[in-house]
Amino acid sequence: MEDRHVPHLLETAHARIRARFPMIDRDALGNPRIYLNTGAGSLTVDTAAEAASEAQGRLNPMPGSILPGERDTAVLHDRVRSLVADFLHAGSAREISFHNSATSAFFSLAFALRGRVKEDANLIVTDLDHMANISPWETVWGELHGREIRRARVREDGTLDIDHLLSLIDARTAVLAVTSASNGLGTLVPLGRITPLVREKAPGCLVAVDAVHHAPHGPIDVAELGCDFLAFSGYKVFGPMLGVLWGKAGLLEELLPYRVETAKNEAPAKFESGMLNNASLASLEAALEYILWLADLAAGPEAFLADRAARFRSAMTAVAEYEKPLTARVLDGLRRLDPQRFQCYGITDPGRVAERVPTFAFEIIGQAASETKKRLWEARGLQIADGNHYSAAVFRHLGRPALCRASFAHYDSAGTADAFLNGLQEALEDPPGNQ
Ligand SMILES: Cc1ncc(COP(=O)(O)O)c(C=O)c1O
Repeated sequence: MEDRHVPHLLETAHARIRARFPMIDRDALGNPRIYLNTGAGSLTVDTAAEAASEAQGRLNPMPGSILPGERDTAVLHDRVRSLVADFLHAGSAREISFHNSATSAFFSLAFALRGRVKEDANLIVTDLDHMANISPWETVWGELHGREIRRARVREDGTLDIDHLLSLIDARTAVLAVTSASNGLGTLVPLGRITPLVREKAPGCLVAVDAVHHAPHGPIDVAELGCDFLAFSGYKVFGPMLGVLWGKAGLLEELLPYRVETAKNEAPAKFESGMLNNASLASLEAALEYILWLADLAAGPEAFLADRAARFRSAMTAVAEYEKPLTARVLDGLRRLDPQRFQCYGITDPGRVAERVPTFAFEIIGQAASETKKRLWEARGLQIADGNHYSAAVFRHLGRPALCRASFAHYDSAGTADAFLNGLQEALEDPPGNQ
């Protein structure tokens, strides 16, 4: 029987999705491009950019309860907290705080655990993580307070070594800081399976999850993950530069973040330093509403989904499903490249797409990552990243100062994947003298 390709609903709506990203095929200077750098920052959806500018021009800076303008600002804050809570399937809007970045959210969180981490405690970080969820723990608890920091290893295939991680945990483990997806290699971490095992060995261990890289690629459900804290960034989910931290309500009340004396001593306000960035909050609201729009596209006209958290789940599940064949297509293509001249790191088997997101670390052997990046840009307008990507997987696990990274999102397609693969093939065909 003929194997008919049944298009995914997001594939059917692809042109409409791409039309929502004004910068999708040109850079800020108008140069044509194919954007393969979502790992460093997704494209901004049209309404998120507009909302930031509108809010910056209109909103009262201070929230309050008396004047209409200040009430309007307070309502925005409440609305966005509640929207984010649904995005993460969190228990309450009070569990959501806003920060300059995910990095500063993790530093703030590490500091806020003062008084809770006993003298003989140990903390665990992983070699798969972004440094944003490593340095705060190593600096505040290792360097400053002399606690033991243990490092969980990565396996050769770019997955977290779960056996090793579990072997590091004992009854004195106070914190496990772990990512849900590697921004270096694209590997997903099966946290839903890991956290119950961690809790068996260390019932008091707090689990802090970095979901920055995962957030644009699949549903995030803090209840299912079984964690205590989780951070993500607005600019990875099609919106603004803004860090978001979720924490279990009871824990947030107990913690001691740095806080000026006159700021409210209750969550979430006590975690927020200074005035909130209203333009960014308005932009985040629009970005998350875009995801709800995706839910409607993905569910089709007949579907009716009652609650907002379910719509977020539906949208992000559709995104994850859409990205799987895209990932397989790229991996298939990469396998055909000359292995003497090209190497991809992490999971490379197209049969294992459920274990990764479409983020690919690679190198043209013998060529500096910056040079490959330059060539792909100049020859094909392909915009990839070079460097260590702040990824421990790149510079601690692989011991590399720099690798190339191409990272895709749901606004990419088979066409984008093929353009990337053709660009790489062409770069490999370049006679060595030209390199
Ligand atoms: C996995 C991961 N964690 C944390 C960060 C840092 O996020 P922010 O720039 O909001 O601090 C990044 C940024 O690339 C990331 O990819």
